[in-house]
Amino acid sequence: MKFISIFFLVFLVSGVVISPVHAGNSISLDAPPASLAKWYKPANKRQVWLHTMFKLRREMQAIAEYAEQHDRPGMEKWIARLEKNYNKIAEMVPEWEKEIKPRLLPELKMFAEKGDTARVKKTLEMIQRTCDDCHSDYQPLVTAMYRSPHYDDIKVKDAKGVAHSIEDNMEELSRSVNRILIALEDGHNAVALKASQSLATYLELLGESCNSCHKNDPHPRERILGKETQQRLESLQANIKKGKVKDSQKLMGEIGVSVCARCHNTHRIVYDLRNALLPNE
Ligand code: HEC
Ligand code: HEC
Ligand code: HEC
Repeated sequence: MKFISIFFLVFLVSGVVISPVHAGNSISLDAPPASLAKWYKPANKRQVWLHTMFKLRREMQAIAEYAEQHDRPGMEKWIARLEKNYNKIAEMVPEWEKEIKPRLLPELKMFAEKGDTARVKKTLEMIQRTCDDCHSDYQPLVTAMYRSPHYDDIKVKDAKGVAHSIEDNMEELSRSVNRILIALEDGHNAVALKASQSLATYLELLGESCNSCHKNDPHPRERILGKETQQRLESLQANIKKGKVKDSQKLMGEIGVSVCARCHNTHRIVYDLRNALLPNE
């Protein structure tokens, strides 16, 4: 992991293409021009670049479908839109001017006017190639830089008003989980009970962070930390109190899957990838 990080660091600083090679497979990613930042949050109110991309894909599809149906007015309408948005690429990020071929658009228009479906399709393929080339060089890193969630700035306050980072919270969760499992195995029920109470407390605390990203949407929190999790945490404490070790261990397994793993599968994987790609942030 360290090895890859150092590679990425070097290439981000120098802007040079690098190719770490793994058993015959190579990945190479270029750092995008800095001017792209203007078209993303927080510099912009909207993800303008991404929405332009969605439009381009829709326009390409519309033209191909109308070409198939020999619908000239349909084609002409969407070619005009494609031309406008395709040229926006270089207007937004002048450094990427060489990545596009604006001359293909007047050609596309001419073939559409002549009703030459075969040439319309060929030209669409040539345009598509410029899309694919840029994507294979830049897309993953741009997504990681501008659209992957950040947890570093998020703080949650405990009952005493002390602020914790998500990372501290995760370490406490992990410690509580393992303390419960160790104590259950070794018959230290009082320790297990106390740790199960801290587990519930740290999860409660974590729940306060969901709103930082999932604004005004209670469903993500409900799905991972809602009623079912609440019930499992309560039965866990009840089972530990009664000395039911096997049932408590089973509940711990369920909590591990339905709480920790379920959340890690959406949030932590992306976070770890982002850190591998952008170690100097
Ligand atoms: C919000 C959803 C979420 C839930 C629920 C969650 N985690 Fe995490 N976890 C994360 C994220 C995001 C990271 C990476 C961020 C970080 O480490 O700062 C992480 C990282 C971790 C780490 C690595 C910490 C480090 O030092 O790098 C551990 C250990 C961990 N979680 C344990 C747990 C355990 C155990 C549970 C369940 C009791 C749990 N997590 C529940 C989101 C979650
Ligand atoms: C000069 C570079 C460049 C060119 C040319 C380009 N794109 Fe993109 N495109 C990007 C980058 C960078 C992203 C990643 C954006 C992100 O994840 O926020 C992207 C993302 C996309 C996405 C979003 C994929 C997804 O589902 O997340 C679509 C769709 C797309 N491009 C379509 C097109 C089409 C169609 C064309 C050609 C007509 C095209 N792009 C040309 C750079 C380019
Ligand atoms: C730093 C930002 C961030 C924080 C904090 C965060 N999430 Fe998410 N979460 C995301 C992103 C990004 C996605 C994927 C896109 C989406 O669904 O919004 C996601 C997706 C999810 C999903 C899957 C989609 C769904 O709605 O079912 C769940 C469940 C979820 N989050 C739960 C939580 C819970 C619970 C917390 C708090 C403990 C939390 N998230 C905190 C960014 C965050």
